[in-house]
Amino acid sequence: MRMRLKKHLNERFENVSKYIAAKEDKSFYSERSSVVLSPFDIFNNNNPTSLEIGCGKGAFAFNYAQLHPNINLIAVDMISNVIIDAVEMVADEGLINVKFMVIAAENLLAHLEEHTISEIILNFPCPYKKNSYSNARLTHPRFLEIYKKLLLPQGKIILTTDKDNFFEFSVNRLREEGFFITELTTDLPRNEKLETEYEKNFRDMGIPIKRVVAYFDGLSTSKQ
Ligand SMILES: C[S@@+](CC[C@H](N)C(=O)[O-])C[C@H]1O[C@@H](n2cnc3c(N)ncnc32)[C@H](O)[C@@H]1O
Repeated sequence: MRMRLKKHLNERFENVSKYIAAKEDKSFYSERSSVVLSPFDIFNNNNPTSLEIGCGKGAFAFNYAQLHPNINLIAVDMISNVIIDAVEMVADEGLINVKFMVIAAENLLAHLEEHTISEIILNFPCPYKKNSYSNARLTHPRFLEIYKKLLLPQGKIILTTDKDNFFEFSVNRLREEGFFITELTTDLPRNEKLETEYEKNFRDMGIPIKRVVAYFDGLSTSKQ
């Protein structure tokens, strides 16, 4: 089903442009022109920087930024029609420690300097069917290779999901790609302060939430 485009989308993005660190348009794809930014370029400070990929409507980014005023957060989503709600919510509140990239995660290295990110947060990524679209999964090895380049040594990935198959796939891929698992739970306690839109729906349906935390030491390449 095609999503109906929100009205005045361009104008709305213009009004919140200071919150947008990168936005891919047709010229990005035709000319492959982009600027690689460091967190310092974006936030003008040396605070640790987290990266949320697939932020959707932004409930997590909004709450995380307020709970952690000394951490920068770059929130990414490829659907401008969805992320605009997140950007406007943050702009209305005047939060200064969160900025957005309206880009596909596949292109992160074209926008963000390598080895600058402390943690990568994946909240309820699209599970995509394993056989047909597994390479679109945000924990497919092609994405894990990108994350390794973005993370600082000892930087971590925090993945939260409701889907058993996707969780198993992700834990296996993390191990195979040289990440070290430090936390693994199949029934994460509720934390309403940091609940995402999808999480709330799944919890309300009684579905247990799974989480894995893994770090990359910046060295290992072999399978664990
Ligand atoms: C299932 S939604 C979850 C949204 C939010 N994290 C939550 O928990 O409520 C997944 C989001 O990931 C985004 N997404 C999926 N693949 C992506 C990619 N390759 N690059 C950037 N965003 C992506 C989608 O546009 C969508 O907004």
